[in-house]
Amino acid sequence: MPGTKISRLVGVAMIFGSLLGTAFASNAAEPNLNLSDEERTQANKIFFERCAGCHGVLRKGATGKPLTTDITKERGYDTLVAFITYGSPAGMPNWGTSGELSESQIDLMARYLLNEPQTPPEFGMPEMKASWNLAVPPDKRPTKKMNDWDIDNLFSVTLRDAGQIALIDGNTYEIKTIIKTGYAVHITRISANGRYLLVIGRDARINMIDLWMKEPATVASIKIGMEARSVESSKMKGFEDKYAIAGAYWPPQFTIMDGHTLEPLKIVSTRGMTVDTQDYHPASGARGKPQSSKIWTRVGDQSSRR
Ligand code: HEC
Repeated sequence: MPGTKISRLVGVAMIFGSLLGTAFASNAAEPNLNLSDEERTQANKIFFERCAGCHGVLRKGATGKPLTTDITKERGYDTLVAFITYGSPAGMPNWGTSGELSESQIDLMARYLLNEPQTPPEFGMPEMKASWNLAVPPDKRPTKKMNDWDIDNLFSVTLRDAGQIALIDGNTYEIKTIIKTGYAVHITRISANGRYLLVIGRDARINMIDLWMKEPATVASIKIGMEARSVESSKMKGFEDKYAIAGAYWPPQFTIMDGHTLEPLKIVSTRGMTVDTQDYHPASGARGKPQSSKIWTRVGDQSSRR
């Protein structure tokens, strides 16, 4: 694209190169590492929405490699641009060639990664509510199963880099449908009633899929943070699917949602608390606690793996 930073820089490099010899040309293409406030805001938005789920909010790496400045500086601007543009077969999406990011956004992200990591943004009730989408309210959902799927023998397969799941018949291996989700779905859970599928991406986006619909699809979705790994619906007797819970790495908190709509009800911070005293519901703990502490253990287990 004419007029973009990269082509302008290349143009400048070529002029200097022809005047002063090639040794100077590479210096002329040094990127400007100072980001304006506006650029920093845009880069933060792109990073925390689209990159942090795989690279970690502090850029220390997860599914994706660490992107701390000791590494990015060694790679250099041109390599970063190429990586972000073309991706790699090892799981880095091709943001440029897929058209997801423009040339100038990629230039910005390469310069951003050469700067020290920024403090990740908070994600509280206003942000959650804004991200919450109740596509099909409970009273608009079927009252019995409307399809001939064998939902007791169904695989939910994470299509990691596409940000999708495939639902595959366990008898025939037929792909029944593909559903858009968060990035790199980490956990899939079935509701107590066997009807809903809950999936959570590493970017903390939860999808609730109704397997009773004629064409099973997302009936509710929400983003509960910037980076997360696990979701579960309440299974305890008397509380079946009343609530859903999801734990986030960032911000360090868990969120309790309505089990049928994913409406966020309560956010509990886990910042600065020890495992022993994270007693989020002491008054009626006998009911709420076993389920939540079980989930928390699971989140912990996964964090040691990834
Ligand atoms: C779906 C997961 C995923 C997402 C989302 C993702 N990356 Fe990556 N990224 C990876 C993986 C995996 C690698 C390592 C690939 C390899 O080694 O070939 C990687 C590698 C990279 C590298 C090269 C690191 C090195 O050591 O050379 C850069 C730069 C990078 N990613 C930037 C980004 C940016 C910027 C974004 C957001 C716009 C992003 N990534 C989003 C998975 C991801």
